[in-house]
Amino acid sequence: MSTDHPPLAAVPAVAIDVRGVVKTIDNGTNSVNILRGLTFSVPPGQFLAIMGASGSGKSTLLGLLAGLDTVTAGSIVLDGTDITNLNEDKLARVRGRKIGFVFQSYQLVSTLTAKENILLPAELSGMAGDLESRADMLLDRVGLSNRGHHYPIQLSGGEQQRVALARAFVTKPPILMADEPTGNLDSVNGTHVLELLLQLNREERTTMILVTHDAMLAAYADRIIKLRDGAIVSDELVAQPQGTQVEV
Ligand SMILES: Nc1ncnc2c1ncn2[C@@H]1O[C@H](COP(=O)(O)OP(=O)(O)OP(=O)(O)O)[C@@H](O)[C@H]1O
Ligand SMILES: [Mg+2]
Repeated sequence: MSTDHPPLAAVPAVAIDVRGVVKTIDNGTNSVNILRGLTFSVPPGQFLAIMGASGSGKSTLLGLLAGLDTVTAGSIVLDGTDITNLNEDKLARVRGRKIGFVFQSYQLVSTLTAKENILLPAELSGMAGDLESRADMLLDRVGLSNRGHHYPIQLSGGEQQRVALARAFVTKPPILMADEPTGNLDSVNGTHVLELLLQLNREERTTMILVTHDAMLAAYADRIIKLRDGAIVSDELVAQPQGTQVEV
């Protein structure tokens, strides 16, 4: 057991609390209900998969949870902070402190090296400590210790996504969110990225929200919420058979 774990009293009982969340978009001629009143909460450390057909509202929901977009009605509390009515500056600060995000399309900064990409969120959030060592450790954890000085264009898709994973963990966020993180990868690279994601998640003790179409990926989760037309149609805990989860 690690001794640098925060005392129990400092860990909120709920990592994410979503109450009656509605998202409506006005497209000029009419308003479209994209999310129709979602309520659920996620305990710290849980690995939640959000599934559903294309257009069911998965990315919209994740964007709201990450504070990248604002709700039309309802509330979202992240790791003890109500983000529902925060202005953009405050949201950016909460994002920097509380969330690591992995996108389907990697979203690395093309003019920065792999290591500089990993360091960027730590520098932007003013993180203290030996950032260089943490970036080197994470590069090593994702199997790219000799590629830190390479630019994204010099890396394969799988390698770029591994850099994006390292970047998402650099600030030690309590919550990690990923939207189809293996969607642009072939199955071998996709499995590798997913296993790294799971290992880092366990080592760093984060809460994880994964949006995926892929039932194989979702099978690794503790819980699966399914959306249809912007509403929750099922919310189930997954019994993990022995050996299904990645041990570290
Ligand atoms: N800015 C917008 N304006 C109008 N409609 C939007 C907007 N953003 C999303 N939508 C619509 O909301 C619905 C949900 O979109 P969302 O991207 O959340 O779906 P998704 O479940 O992530 O789909 P996919 O699996 O294809 O990524 C879709 O019908 C989409 O067209
Ligand atoms: Mg989507």
